[in-house]
Amino acid sequence: INYQLARFVASYGDASKIPASTCPEVSFVGRSNVGKSSIMNKLFNRKNLVKVSSTPGKTANVNFFEADGIHFVDLPGYGYAQRSKAERDRWKDLIGEFFELDRSFNLVVSLIDIRHEPSALDHQMIDYLNASGLPFVIALTKADKLSRGRADQQRSAIARILGMRPADLLITSSDNGQGIDELKEIIELHCLG
Ligand code: GTP
Ligand code: MG
Repeated sequence: INYQLARFVASYGDASKIPASTCPEVSFVGRSNVGKSSIMNKLFNRKNLVKVSSTPGKTANVNFFEADGIHFVDLPGYGYAQRSKAERDRWKDLIGEFFELDRSFNLVVSLIDIRHEPSALDHQMIDYLNASGLPFVIALTKADKLSRGRADQQRSAIARILGMRPADLLITSSDNGQGIDELKEIIELHCLG
């Protein structure tokens, strides 16, 4: 997959307005501020094609990007307590309705901050992915904030909590690029079959 010519395609605030899939799709989910938009920029090797912010709640819509005939979907983060209940409900509906659409869900990248235990909403998301049978991979983000040893320990702890094998959780960093090549391989596997 050539990521060099990544481009923005479209933004939707209402899941029912999203047109049918025209190509394989990779979507990125996780709590607000976990690093969804950043990991997409890292894949595309672009500084700010996808809008990133240190303030949680940056991505409020479903944003489609395209690279080499594959769609990359940036979703709003869940669980940002500082938002109004109405806003949180809108986002939850948007994410929920998105995954209820009949689409080419080739791969869902579910992001969890490597420093923290999965939240209740992370559990909900992963339970949903398991129940729905959608292909997904877990990427632990911000590994640059821990030593290699601590990162491995955290991966084991989080894997145990989720009932998964540590090897099934990718250790990633959008800062130093750790795990990005592995993520690209997984994306390739699911999108190019
Ligand atoms: P929402 O759009 O609010 O849902 O957030 P998001 O998940 O898209 O997070 P975003 O990519 O905007 O990143 C949030 C903050 O975390 C920014 O300040 C990023 O610079 C920082 N960040 C993201 N990934 C990493 C990483 O791998 N390492 C470090 N050190 N910081 C990161
Ligand atoms: Mg974002």
